[in-house]
Amino acid sequence: MGLHGEVTIPGDKSISHRAVMFGSLAKGTTEVTNFLQGADCLSTIDCFRKLGIEVENTPEKILIHGKGLHGLSAPTSILDAGNSGTTTRLISGILAAQPFETTLTGDASIQKRPMRRIMEPLSMMGANITSLNGNDCAPLRIHGGSIHSIHYHSKVASAQVKSAILLAGMYAEDGETKVTEPTISRNHSEIMLRTFGADVRTEDTTAIIKPQPSLTAQTINVPGDISSAAYFIAAGLCVPNSEILIKNVGINPTRDGILKVALAMGGNITLLNENYDGEPTADLLVKSSELHGITIEGDIIPTLIDEIPIINIMAAVAKGTTIIKDAAELKVKESNRIDVMVDNLTAMGAQITGTDDGMIIEGGKPLHGAFIKTHLDHRIAMSFAIAALLAEGETTLEDKELANISFPTFYHDLEKLQR
Ligand code: S3P
Repeated sequence: MGLHGEVTIPGDKSISHRAVMFGSLAKGTTEVTNFLQGADCLSTIDCFRKLGIEVENTPEKILIHGKGLHGLSAPTSILDAGNSGTTTRLISGILAAQPFETTLTGDASIQKRPMRRIMEPLSMMGANITSLNGNDCAPLRIHGGSIHSIHYHSKVASAQVKSAILLAGMYAEDGETKVTEPTISRNHSEIMLRTFGADVRTEDTTAIIKPQPSLTAQTINVPGDISSAAYFIAAGLCVPNSEILIKNVGINPTRDGILKVALAMGGNITLLNENYDGEPTADLLVKSSELHGITIEGDIIPTLIDEIPIINIMAAVAKGTTIIKDAAELKVKESNRIDVMVDNLTAMGAQITGTDDGMIIEGGKPLHGAFIKTHLDHRIAMSFAIAALLAEGETTLEDKELANISFPTFYHDLEKLQR
C-alpha cells in the first residue's frame, strides 16, 4: 500500500522556545507565526507569563509583549518547565541575572536530568543556584546576581548549555562572554539573537556575545522542525511503495545530520524549494529505498542527536550493520535513549546492542509487534509508531499522547499518508 501525499511539519521546537524567550527580553511586540503549539513550548510561554510578560496565543500567531532586557518581574509561584530541557536550561541563564529569586521545576523526567552543566558556569558568572534535592537536578532555586563575563569551555556540545551562558552573558557588567564547545551544536540562539539586535559572533567552535544589547521586537516565521520531519523521512524511506512530500523543513546545517545519514544509507530524498534566507528551509521528496547500515560518529552527532531513536528504527530494517558512536549524551535526554532503544527494539525482534556511547544494530531481522515502554519520552513514542508500521502484528505504545510534547498532529498526519 505505502504512504502517499503531502505533510506540512509544525514549527521547530528549539526555534519556538527561543522566539518566546528573546521576544520577552526585547522591547516591543514580537509576532511569531508557525509557532509550535507543543506542550514544551507552552511551558515556556507559561514561565514567561509568570515572569510578567503578556503573551497572546492564537491559532494564527503568537504575540509577545516584550519588556526589554531588564523588564521581567519576580514570579509569585514556582516556574514549571514540564518535560522541557530547553526551557529549564535556557531560562536558568536568564534567571541567573535577575534581581530576584526563582524556583524552577519540571516533570519526573526533568527532575532526573543533569543540571550541573548549567549550574557550574552560571555560578562562575555570579548566580547562586541550588538543587533543592541536592542531586544537581531540578527543582532549582536560582538567586540572580550581578553577572560577569567568562570564557567557558564546555565538555559537551550542547546548545542548551551554550545558550544559557550566552543569555546570562547579555547581562554581564564587564566584557564579552565566550563559550567554546568540543563540536559545534545547533546555532539557533546565535542566529535569532543577532536578528533581535545582539552582537553575537562565532569563531570556530566558540560563540561570543557582547553584553547589554538592546533587543528590539521582531517578526519571526518558524520553519518546520527537522526533528519532527525525521519520523516521516524514515517512514517514507522504509515503508515499501511510498512517496511523500514533506513541506517547509528547517535544514540548518547544525541540524541536518538526519538528511546526511539517510542519504548515506541509500535513501532517495530530493530537496525542493530550497530557501537560504535566514534559517534555511526546503521541501523534502522522499521515496521508498533499500537502506544499508553505516557508521555514524564524531562531529555529525550533535547535528542529529534527537534523531538517533528514529535512525535506530531505520537501521533495524536496513541491510547490514549500523554503528553509532560518540553519543553518550543519549543517556541524559528525556529518557536514557540507549537503554530504552535497546529494550524496545529487542522486544520487537531486532538485533541491537547498547554500548557506552551509542549502539550497534544488525539490520534486517524481521520486526514483530510488542508493548513499547515510552519512559516519558516523546521521541521514543513517535519512533516506535513508525516501527509499528514496519512490524508484523500489533504494537502498543504506552503513553502514545507523549507526541503532544513536540508534534501534536503526529498521529493525524501519519494516518493521512496511509489513506
Ligand atoms: C536543544 C538542544 C539539544 C536537543 C534538545 C533541544 C535546544 O539538547 O537535544 O532537544 O533547543 O537547544 P542539548 O543542548 O542537551 O544537546
